[in-house]
Amino acid sequence: MQTPPIKKFVLETYGCQMNTADSELVEGILLKLGLEKTQDLHEADAIFLNTCAIRENAEVKVHSRLGNLRKIKQVKPELIIGVLGCMAQNLKDDLLKNKPYVDIILGPDSYRNIPKLMNRHLIEKKSIVDTKLSKYEVYEDMFPSRGDTFNAWVSIMRGCDKFCSFCIVPFTRGRERSRSVDSVVTEVKKAVDEGYVEITLLGQNVNSYKHEKKSFAELLLAVSDIPGVKRIRYTSPHPQDINVELLEVMASRANICNYVHFPMQSGSNEVLKRMNRTYTREHFYYMAKKIREIMPNCGLSTDIIVGFPGETDEQFRETLDLMEKIKFNSAYTFKYSSRPYTKAAQFSDQLPKQLKKDRLDEMLKLQRKHTLELNMKKVGNFEQVLIEKESKKSANHWAGRTDSNEWVIVEKNHSKIKDIIPVEIIEASGVILRGKEITGA
Ligand code: 5AD
Ligand code: SF4
Repeated sequence: MQTPPIKKFVLETYGCQMNTADSELVEGILLKLGLEKTQDLHEADAIFLNTCAIRENAEVKVHSRLGNLRKIKQVKPELIIGVLGCMAQNLKDDLLKNKPYVDIILGPDSYRNIPKLMNRHLIEKKSIVDTKLSKYEVYEDMFPSRGDTFNAWVSIMRGCDKFCSFCIVPFTRGRERSRSVDSVVTEVKKAVDEGYVEITLLGQNVNSYKHEKKSFAELLLAVSDIPGVKRIRYTSPHPQDINVELLEVMASRANICNYVHFPMQSGSNEVLKRMNRTYTREHFYYMAKKIREIMPNCGLSTDIIVGFPGETDEQFRETLDLMEKIKFNSAYTFKYSSRPYTKAAQFSDQLPKQLKKDRLDEMLKLQRKHTLELNMKKVGNFEQVLIEKESKKSANHWAGRTDSNEWVIVEKNHSKIKDIIPVEIIEASGVILRGKEITGA
């Protein structure tokens, strides 16, 4: 295939970790073509935005970025602008009609075609679209170009068949499909050889993983067996697929982190039903307790949506009440945002903006209280901290995470990035813990 006369590219990533992992795949393809990566928009011959469509404000950000890129293109008409990922899938008609300066529109299952499409664009001199969703594409044989960091993202499954009524993902990313255990193990071994010590297994519905009768728990064991894997994390699971077998596997292996992201979305059975979430408040509470029973120090985080269509004040209070009962270590909280194609977008009882904002503020306050409360209980504990980076606030300190996913700031000693060090927690303020390295001296 002809290599396009493009030398340098910028690739910006919006949204979730799946997009980060996808960008690493795309970067791998572009580097293999002989292109060079740059951060400078003005020296780039091609600029790609890997986009997110999960909430309206994610899309607004990309539209505004495209406005900036358009200005660059006005003075440099040969610049190639590409929109990749979920928005490409979702908004291709709108982009073609209203943003003709976008040259390449590429959905999440079409990244292999990027060289071909760049060539086609250069020959045909028009916008090129490829947003076909695949039942099979898992990019199994491709190796991503990873950043210079401690953690390797490894995508193990793609797509989602759950169709929660608020969520656009099943439409933008298509049907669920998983990679083989062997291909995941091969990729993890390669990542370890390259010096990565933490592996995060990724999927829109990561624990729905199934390949030729192999379950997610079995895959975790296979990855845990690979020498040199210091820590394994995974995201994002669906509560329906968290079971005792999985929790026991997690508890049985020292290198599988005791941390579960456990997306609740709502604490009201009526809302959960309208969300098509397939579990009840009671089952969710039971499983949250089970997680902490099987792994007593397990970090528990969640996702919650406020202001889902028709959510009454009483139903909102049921959610706060369940938060009180469970006390998550942290929570990602969102105002409901109506998304095209979804069932909930058609519900007639959409709630006013201000009400959603007020509910979110109240929820944030409660979560902050819980995070602080749980963090205070950690003071005096001994934790294993993986050093991840320099603290933003001090060049004399490292920032690292505990096994259960809390950030800890610790004074630099002889330790270096990627080391796991024993730390005594000495202070808790908000979401951050301070610790003291135990040196044995
Ligand atoms: N509005 C608000 N939040 C949403 N999420 C998904 N779709 C929407 C939406 N339409 C949230 C859910 C999900 C997280 C990734 O994003 O809480 O778990
Ligand atoms: Fe969206 Fe629900 Fe699938 Fe998660 S499980 S990606 S929230 S449809």
